[in-house]
Amino acid sequence: MLRHVILWKLKDDISDLAAVKAGIKAGLEGLVGKVPGLLRVKVQTEGLASSTADVMLDSYLTDAAALKAYATHPAHVAVANEKVRPYTASRACLDFEGEGEFGELLIERRSFRAFAETVPSPALVDEVVKAGLLAPTGRNQQSSLVIRIDDPALKEEIRAENARIMGAPPPGRPADPFYAAPVMLMVIANKKNNTATYDGSLTMGNMMIKAHELGLASCWIHRAKEEMEGPLGAKILSRLGLEGEWEGVGHLALGYAATALPPPREINPARYRAI
Ligand SMILES: Cc1cc2nc3c(=O)[nH]c(=O)nc-3n(C[C@H](O)[C@H](O)[C@H](O)COP(=O)(O)O)c2cc1C
Repeated sequence: MLRHVILWKLKDDISDLAAVKAGIKAGLEGLVGKVPGLLRVKVQTEGLASSTADVMLDSYLTDAAALKAYATHPAHVAVANEKVRPYTASRACLDFEGEGEFGELLIERRSFRAFAETVPSPALVDEVVKAGLLAPTGRNQQSSLVIRIDDPALKEEIRAENARIMGAPPPGRPADPFYAAPVMLMVIANKKNNTATYDGSLTMGNMMIKAHELGLASCWIHRAKEEMEGPLGAKILSRLGLEGEWEGVGHLALGYAATALPPPREINPARYRAI
């Protein structure tokens, strides 16, 4: 993938700045789908006072050939001539090869099994949960729900029950199934939706990727299903005032890493087939 980034300074004498910025943004972002190989365009027009540029284009293209074709594509030339060039005073451009940021996050993310004592700020935890709640759900029924376990006594109860269900830890792993992570999240999903397990799993996946983006370490901790099927599950539902049947999908152990990020996993090519 290729990244094409431009920073513009706008002319000083623009009378309707908001309209000009909106025109640049709509014009350039509207090129996706019209110009072959142009994958993603984001135009930032609202910088903080510390900025030394007024507008930033951050675009993703498939490769250098696509960038070359983009430069002369009639739809792009029209936007450049009508919406951009009349209003810009200076332009700096940086083109570089590499995955997009999201692609990098997907490649880099790994599970952590040793956590530092430092507790992530509530705002960061909220960001992680928000990403989980934005995951798609079957028929948009939003069956999955994230529970942040703050109560230290309940945390210990969950830890003990999870350890009991797990039995002897796998070789080399500690007795604590949560690896002493400072934050414990739990995803449950309403069984009245036939996509409950899938919805909850996507919620878990989004949270793990978002955690990595925010510099946090995470690990999916299993056995939430069994927990929810027993008295502990009933207790959790009653404390939340939830009725009906809920499936335990997973726990997320969250915090700061106490070990270095392991290298990216190798993908087994046999896992991608075509028929
Ligand atoms: C459904 C599911 C259950 C998992 N359960 C546990 C668990 O109970 N304890 C644990 O340490 N890791 C657990 N993991 C993490 C996996 O072991 C880990 O994702 C896998 O080894 C691949 O490593 P990576 O996440 O670093 O790429 C689970 C992962 C998934 C998707």
